[in-house]
Amino acid sequence: MSDNPYSTAVLAWYEANARDLPWRAPDATPWSILVSEIMLQQTPVVRVLPAWQAWMERWPTPADLAEEPSGEAVRMWNRLGYPRRALRLHACAVAITEQHGGQVPDSHETLLSLPGVGAYTAAAVASFAFGQRHAILDTNVRRVLARAETGIQYPPKTQTKAETALAESLLPPVPSVAARWGVAVMELGALVCTARTPACADCPIAHQCAWRLAGKPAHDGPP
Ligand code: ADE
Repeated sequence: MSDNPYSTAVLAWYEANARDLPWRAPDATPWSILVSEIMLQQTPVVRVLPAWQAWMERWPTPADLAEEPSGEAVRMWNRLGYPRRALRLHACAVAITEQHGGQVPDSHETLLSLPGVGAYTAAAVASFAFGQRHAILDTNVRRVLARAETGIQYPPKTQTKAETALAESLLPPVPSVAARWGVAVMELGALVCTARTPACADCPIAHQCAWRLAGKPAHDGPP
């Protein structure tokens, strides 16, 4: 297994351009990373930042949240939208406290068994909190891979097995590098390879991008 053809360029780009987000700090706890991933599922980073800070100040551990009524979580969720996520996060805190000794589990399979934790969130937490090697496919990553590898402007509406297989085939072999690759591709999609106005001039892999090399054929529009 060798590193993929983009990893060096994407990792160097990330090093120089990544946003300084608190859940990416080296001392971010697994719980704070789990909270960030659930908040970021349907809410932009700028709106998540103050909510995440307030949440972590009030409930720095799963046990702190678990001992409060779930209504407090919903109240604290405030204007983030999709408040069912607050209930799921509360249920997660209870499960972690009662079944996992208050520690966010580090296995992908156990993470998947937590309320409201799907394949993406389990992979993101295993990877970003525990430095493991998992394919991470959020909308940004799917778009980058659709363009760079498949040569199409937008990924399919619903995730396919082929996309998962592709993302797995591109994972760098060393787990800590794979984890950094995951967040780096995500950031490239968020900042450069955006849905409607990709900044190809700023892209570290533009010269390798199948979609760009094909003349950026237009599609129907973002899914
Ligand atoms: N960093 C780690 N996970 C992230 C996410 N889901 N969105 C934005 N930045 C992130």
